[in-house]
Amino acid sequence: MFLCSSVLLLFVFTTFNVVYAKNVLLIVSDDGGFESQVYGNPVCKTPHLNELASKSTIFQNAYTSVSSCSPSRSTILSGLPQHQNGMYGLHQGVHHFNSFDQVRSLPALLKQENIHTGIIGKKHVGPENVYPFDFAYTEETNSINQVGRNITRIKELVRNKPFFLYVAFHDPHRCGHTNPEYGEFCEKFGNGEEGMGLIPDWKPVHYKPEDVVVPYFIQDTPIARKDIAAQYTTLSRLDQGIGLVLQELKNFKHENDTLVIYTSDNGIPFPSGRTNLYDPGMAEPFLLHIPQQTESKVSNTLVSLLDIVPTILDWFIIDYPDYDLNGSPVMLTGNSLFRASESFRNVFGSHNLHEATMYYPMRVVRNPYFKLIHNLNFKMPFPIDQDFFISPTFQDLLNRTVGKLDTHWYKNLTNYYYRPEWELYYLKKDPKELKNVANDVLFSGDLAEHKYYLRNWQLNTNDPWICSPSGVLENTGRFKDDPQCLSLHNGL
Ligand SMILES: *[C@@H]1O[C@H](CO)[C@@H](O)[C@H](O)[C@H]1NC(C)=O
Ligand SMILES: *[C@@H]1O[C@H](CO)[C@@H](O)[C@H](O)[C@H]1NC(C)=O
Ligand SMILES: *[C@@H]1O[C@H](CO)[C@@H](O)[C@H](O)[C@H]1NC(C)=O
Ligand SMILES: *[C@@H]1O[C@H](CO)[C@@H](O)[C@H](O)[C@H]1NC(C)=O
Repeated sequence: MFLCSSVLLLFVFTTFNVVYAKNVLLIVSDDGGFESQVYGNPVCKTPHLNELASKSTIFQNAYTSVSSCSPSRSTILSGLPQHQNGMYGLHQGVHHFNSFDQVRSLPALLKQENIHTGIIGKKHVGPENVYPFDFAYTEETNSINQVGRNITRIKELVRNKPFFLYVAFHDPHRCGHTNPEYGEFCEKFGNGEEGMGLIPDWKPVHYKPEDVVVPYFIQDTPIARKDIAAQYTTLSRLDQGIGLVLQELKNFKHENDTLVIYTSDNGIPFPSGRTNLYDPGMAEPFLLHIPQQTESKVSNTLVSLLDIVPTILDWFIIDYPDYDLNGSPVMLTGNSLFRASESFRNVFGSHNLHEATMYYPMRVVRNPYFKLIHNLNFKMPFPIDQDFFISPTFQDLLNRTVGKLDTHWYKNLTNYYYRPEWELYYLKKDPKELKNVANDVLFSGDLAEHKYYLRNWQLNTNDPWICSPSGVLENTGRFKDDPQCLSLHNGL
């Protein structure tokens, strides 16, 4: 990997004046979850992730701050929640969301320090001036299946240069919505069968629907099992792709000077997953390999994907700059993982939209004991995205509900669509988030405490939605020095 030595030799002087080459490889999967032995799934075979995990810290409590593709990628690359960086929803097509021009993102900060930056795969954020990479093979100039799913092509590309390298696989994203000819998860793309093309490095692994592990939040029906089996096959391509990328790192002798992070942008595309802030939407796999690390460590430390920017800046010994965004000072609320401890910590999240039509603002705080979700527009039905809507799993739920058949699901469509304003879950006793205790007097102190944490984080990150849904934020003109939430008297 990284043959072009004139640009890639970046040396960082430590305080001891010792020179180290330091690089970062950030691997992000697209809607990837816990379908791996690393996280206790015995069926979906992931030998390469297992190998990476065998010399990494395996975080058991990592969470995205938003369960939607572009917003999540913008937080991974900017360290700022979506309501602060401006990427309120998806970036491409009619959705058209972008981060604010003034945002100082990781690739921009690294570029400034003469660190060569590269991206291969799904970018899905903008504008270009906020997220500039020296080297880019993304959907903006290539077919997303070639740069995001063709693992042979990805292998060839990573040989080229840089080094902060962001490899953003498009696997294991669904594709029934865009390329149904390749299967629900593009699990047939490149498998060598008629019309599917060939990905020479990929050895497809197939699964029987009866063998898959059905997570508690998916109905255990033949249709859902078949959907999961297709997802597993696509995960095998992701896994083999990760193996190839790591092999290239070795081939070019960078295995001992490169920090490797593996995670995913959001939850899996199943009910309660992607676009939700329930744990199936918010919890992410997270591996951190520090060069020379030869053993695996399991960590229960709470991690937020907002920690990625502070971690990588810490690794390169770069300070985050002082600047204002929309008139307010910006500070990172994530922590460097090199300074992480297992002591009590909250992680936060903020969701506004996925597709442009899917406005459903939510804010969340989570710690090992509780999760508090604030559904700002709780009187609206929870929206469903185009891709998930036509998936066999969701169609099966719809058909069974309409046909008054047993759904075999842990929720029903009514309570899935209509959510209360506040959802408080006592995770210690209720990890599946089924019993909302927000109105339980026994938990009124916990409710107040978590509302306080959430409000503070919203204030620290300049959340324009701070007064929703009961008030209007006035913060300019005569309110400039004394911003206020003025009551709408709407009964909330
Ligand atoms: C994948 O990439 C390789 C190498 O660039 C190419 O030969 C092959 O045709 C591609 N496969 C598909 C299915 O497009
Ligand atoms: C990396 O470290 C391992 C273990 O110490 C060693 O076997 C290997 O040769 C090193 N690789 C390079 C390129 O220095
Ligand atoms: C749902 O019902 C429709 C209409 O009966 C049918 O065409 C479709 O195949 C069903 N889908 C699933 C996943 O059961
Ligand atoms: C859905 O589940 C809730 C319990 O969470 C129950 O009160 C409600 O009656 C159910 N609705 C339907 C239509 O089955």
